[in-house]
Amino acid sequence: MKRIAFTILTFLGTVSMKEHKVVSSYNTDVDLTTPQLIRKYGYPSESHTVETSDGYLLTLHRIPHGRTSEYNSSRIPVFIQHGLLSTSATWVFTGPNKSLPYILADIGYDVWLGNARGNTYSRGHVSLNIDDPKFWDFSFHEMGVHDLPAEIDWILNVTGHKKLFYIGHSMGTTMFYVMASMRPEYNDKVQFMVSLAPVAFVGHVKSPIRILVPFLKDFEFISYYLGKGEFLPHNKIIQWLARYGCELMTTEQKICEDSMFVIAGFDKEQFNMTLLPEILGHAPAGTSTKTVVHYAEEIKSGKFQQFDNICSSGRNVIKGNYCDRVGSGQEYNLTKITVPIDLHYADNDWLASPVDVKQLARKLKSKVELTRVPFSKFNHIDFVWAKDAYKLVYENVINALKKHESRLT
Ligand SMILES: *[C@@H]1O[C@H](CO)[C@@H](O)[C@H](O)[C@H]1NC(C)=O
Ligand SMILES: *[C@@H]1O[C@H](CO)[C@@H](O)[C@H](O)[C@H]1NC(C)=O
Ligand SMILES: *[C@@H]1O[C@H](CO)[C@@H](O)[C@H](O)[C@H]1NC(C)=O
Ligand SMILES: *[C@@H]1O[C@H](CO)[C@@H](O)[C@H](O)[C@H]1NC(C)=O
Ligand SMILES: *[C@@H]1O[C@H](CO)[C@@H](O)[C@H](O)[C@H]1NC(C)=O
Repeated sequence: MKRIAFTILTFLGTVSMKEHKVVSSYNTDVDLTTPQLIRKYGYPSESHTVETSDGYLLTLHRIPHGRTSEYNSSRIPVFIQHGLLSTSATWVFTGPNKSLPYILADIGYDVWLGNARGNTYSRGHVSLNIDDPKFWDFSFHEMGVHDLPAEIDWILNVTGHKKLFYIGHSMGTTMFYVMASMRPEYNDKVQFMVSLAPVAFVGHVKSPIRILVPFLKDFEFISYYLGKGEFLPHNKIIQWLARYGCELMTTEQKICEDSMFVIAGFDKEQFNMTLLPEILGHAPAGTSTKTVVHYAEEIKSGKFQQFDNICSSGRNVIKGNYCDRVGSGQEYNLTKITVPIDLHYADNDWLASPVDVKQLARKLKSKVELTRVPFSKFNHIDFVWAKDAYKLVYENVINALKKHESRLT
């Protein structure tokens, strides 16, 4: 069986556009939704629809308790937020004792999985249709200012807790830093935050996505090659990035051509090839072109800043019309963040480079712990799927939650 496997993952997307031969026998997990996957592995699952202050309808998935335990209200809610072009599903297909949400549900937490606006589970709006370019006029800025506050309020309301724990991967960390600096009152609703592959400053990104930066001001280029509203990159762009990525990758040609790890990098030792069909089946999960352009702007500026309507070429790169200067690149004020944060970074992360993460650590004024993953080839998406994610990362995360839990009660 042949099919076009066009897949872009996490942050700026990983992946090549090519004929993908599905060699292994058909994997049924490919077609399962997040709640179906959760139930398949023996856990209880709930879905909640939350409306944001600007009318987007988001789906929250919940695993209220573990396989052999019951729910009671003393369970502390843990909110887990995926990265770019992902969904809640990315967290739940490696199985019990491997997927972070299952582990947390089994040891006594009430686990909630976010879905950012525009992804498979969050494509509704009270008045806008997804065919309307206005629906897609957002970036991680709006996800931080509107999505996270709505979801956090919902969770605290349902559970009766005053605070929760927040765990983010990649863009899931960016959204948090935006929220906590733009809406600082939400600092009081989060007891502790874990950043996996933290993305705020991106000036040292090693990924081939850098090669898009010179085209930032070109409305025609962006709308034709990346997509006018929704991020739907042209085949040619994916092939181009793939070629560049293959040169950067020091792995054998076969992996490079067959793999999707063109943009986020590849770590042969930690990646479980059995998961490949599932990964291809759940991504790309949808986002806006503006989100991608926003990151590209920050690669160029080296700053963690609001979207800048680039006007020097006379046209607004997102809307195509002649420019106003609304939202022109003001830096996020990280000193407003008061939540204690653990930053976990990896040497081989092409997107959250150690240099950028250390800069973030210096700029944050809250209590920060900086932890390097003790495996030199660990990369961006290993934080979600690595074979040894438990030993290398999650064990540390769990100990930190326990420590902060005792301060909560
Ligand atoms: C998961 O870990 C628990 C406790 O460590 C063990 O009892 C159980 O057999 C493990 N389950 C799987 C599927 O590995
Ligand atoms: C509530 O659940 C927690 C975590 O599973 C457990 O430790 C505790 O004993 C339970 N409390 C009650 C009152 O059942
Ligand atoms: C919390 O729940 C109550 C009762 O269901 C509802 O009236 C209120 O609007 C909710 N608040 C938020 C912030 O969702
Ligand atoms: C950033 O926030 C801090 C803390 O609220 C404030 O003292 C400082 O003036 C702000 N900086 C800017 C540039 O707005
Ligand atoms: C790889 O994934 C498969 C399917 O989920 C699983 O059965 C297997 O245990 C995984 N291998 C490792 C080393 O994690």
